[in-house]
Amino acid sequence: MESIQWGDLTPETFLKEYWQKKPLLIKQAMPNFQGTIEADELAGLAMEQEIESRIIAQNPDNTWHVEHGPFDDFAKFGENNWTLLVQAVNNWSRDTDQLISLFTFIPRWRIDDVMVSFSTPNGGVGAHLDQYDVFILQGEGKRRWQVGAPDSTLETLIPHPDLKQVSEFTPMIDEITEPGDLLYIPPNHPHNGVSIENSVNYSIGFQAPSNQDLWSAFADKLIDETLGEQRFSDADRDVTDSPYQLKAKDMNQIKSFMLSQLSDEPLFSQFISQYLTQSHHTLELLIPMEAFTTEQVMGFLEDDEIQFAPVSGIKALVCSTPTSSLVINGDSFELSDETSELGVYLAGSQAMTTKKAKSFTSCLKNVQLLTSVLNKGYWYIE
Ligand code: SIN
Ligand code: CO
Repeated sequence: MESIQWGDLTPETFLKEYWQKKPLLIKQAMPNFQGTIEADELAGLAMEQEIESRIIAQNPDNTWHVEHGPFDDFAKFGENNWTLLVQAVNNWSRDTDQLISLFTFIPRWRIDDVMVSFSTPNGGVGAHLDQYDVFILQGEGKRRWQVGAPDSTLETLIPHPDLKQVSEFTPMIDEITEPGDLLYIPPNHPHNGVSIENSVNYSIGFQAPSNQDLWSAFADKLIDETLGEQRFSDADRDVTDSPYQLKAKDMNQIKSFMLSQLSDEPLFSQFISQYLTQSHHTLELLIPMEAFTTEQVMGFLEDDEIQFAPVSGIKALVCSTPTSSLVINGDSFELSDETSELGVYLAGSQAMTTKKAKSFTSCLKNVQLLTSVLNKGYWYIE
């Protein structure tokens, strides 16, 4: 995949001046971009039960219609005024997943997925806000994009129970995007994309967990792994003269008791790395019918016709605090000095030739790590 043509900008200046602050349109950021999936393949994905998709259409009387997939027929929607949106297409299309590698100046954990839309002329989802950052890359066709600044006077409109829009806003960007143009929209900036002709848009969406998501996931981990059963204790208690009062000292002691779990570094690092690598959509995990042995995997290494590949869309990272681990799709694998290099490669989620794999496997621990990852179905042999 070619890289982003930043023009006068660099990733550094982008992060400093635009990221989470201002929208930006980079014309011809990918001059030769031809798209990574054809409209009919996208329609095919929207026919699948496990893939989340919806069609948003505007009726001639300006009312809105929303339908959720799977779809078996698109003809009834006609030739104009509708958009098909398919979530996490990168979990099913390797080429679409490769779009994520355009954004390696931001850590992988921060990226959620790639949603792809196909819009007919005048199709769009209406003016709205998103709570996360998004890059929208224009594939085939042209679309008029308007983006405004956050504005607390905008009204929320619900023209359909499944559709949240906002009232008309003053755009600071109002341009027609063409294949290869890249639009960046920070959270809470109103935006509206209306297709000029049949058009495909790739939305690289970021993940920003809310505090309530994080606390509730942390509580789930404590409960699931019975890590929070220890009871509050106060062996150093003094006689109280006001039994009806909850004193600051007691309150602080309870708070420290709770925070001690959050500040347990090995626990927190395991929790957060697992949380951040969990896919929010179905993945096509390829778990072998019968688990591979390390001997079998060593045998595969001698075959240069095959390669090892990560499942499309899988999220991985390495984390070195307090101990080194590779985390793939919410699953931690401990790393040692001997396996750290392979761990980093696997976290990069790029296919690996057997020649490359052999460069890591002088030590048995590396073969064992590769075997575990294959047996979990996160990587496969192709
Ligand atoms: C799209 O229609 O491709 C993107 C919708 C959005 O603005 O989130
Ligand atoms: Co949006």
